[in-house]
Amino acid sequence: MYSLQILDSSTATAYERMTFPLFRSRLQVLQPQGQTVAVGAANLGQPIGLALAEISSEGVSSEVLSLYVSPERRNTGIGTLLLTRLEQVLVDRGCTNATIVYMTGKPTTPALEHLLEKCHWSPSTPRMLICKSDRRVLDAPWLKMYENLPPSFTIFPWCELTNEERIAIQQQQQTDPWIPEELVPFLHEEGMEPLTSFGLRYQEQVVGWLITHRIYPDTIRYTCDWVREDLQKTGCLLALHAKAHKRQAIAKIPQAIWTVPLHHSNMVRFEEYEKDYLTSMEQTKGSLKILDEASNI
Ligand SMILES: CC(C)(COP(=O)(O)OP(=O)(O)OC[C@H]1O[C@@H](n2cnc3c(N)ncnc32)[C@H](O)[C@@H]1OP(=O)(O)O)[C@@H](O)C(=O)NCCC(=O)NCCS
Repeated sequence: MYSLQILDSSTATAYERMTFPLFRSRLQVLQPQGQTVAVGAANLGQPIGLALAEISSEGVSSEVLSLYVSPERRNTGIGTLLLTRLEQVLVDRGCTNATIVYMTGKPTTPALEHLLEKCHWSPSTPRMLICKSDRRVLDAPWLKMYENLPPSFTIFPWCELTNEERIAIQQQQQTDPWIPEELVPFLHEEGMEPLTSFGLRYQEQVVGWLITHRIYPDTIRYTCDWVREDLQKTGCLLALHAKAHKRQAIAKIPQAIWTVPLHHSNMVRFEEYEKDYLTSMEQTKGSLKILDEASNI
């Protein structure tokens, strides 16, 4: 017989392998009223499942970070109970909605989608393409094609952005915005990998960037890129990526990962075209639930 328990930092470490490496450190610092919430399932004291969520800083939204049940215990209702209990904790903490984003194409994806439907989550919708590559990307034709840009463009390490340039971008964004909100580079600078993060100057103005993060010792995430709209047909965005991939190879960091929103059909087509130079291409989907007391009764 198994039992469910809201975990704290003293009980949660035994569940570490049941979530993604990125979230494992959170289990060591769980606080009763902290932003991370963990519910564990155990059988005779042995962990058999974990549901993990994060409450946003304003306290009303939440995201299910992971849901896991040991393979030999699946399809017996434990996943459903874990999610239901997690939702209840989120309601008790004042959350009014929860989201989940998950990778598709896994053997248990149909079970997860059935479980979400059963628990009255919204029908899942496609969100992102997740592309991964290694050194083979260096052989992609585009990478050779955009090796050199016209002399009016200069690529520079993002950490060499001057204070004046930073202020100019901020002011332009206030008076005459030209950067999509989520791609403003300053939002992504924390923990940036300086080796592979670059800016682009054109006619003495900063007109583009690629900001990257080293998410694991062997993996660089290409997090945020943008080039001013009128210059996008010049291939300079690809030149930024080419530069970063080459620099990454020289530094012997083997893996690269990046995402493409599925509604950007041109970018999705580009990734499909370069599929041979990727190690994998997967999709994520997302679902949402409005949480209220009644939904969990
Ligand atoms: C997804 C996961 C958490 C589900 O846990 P679980 O304990 O098996 O879930 P439950 O038993 O409560 O519910 C699964 C439901 O899917 C159903 N199911 C199983 N395989 C199915 C399939 N191929 N198609 C449709 N439904 C399926 C089960 O019958 C069950 O429904 P029921 O209760 O109506 O009979 C588990 O499979 C898992 O840990 N997967 C790996 C991690 C993962 O991918 N997590 C999700 C995102 S982080």
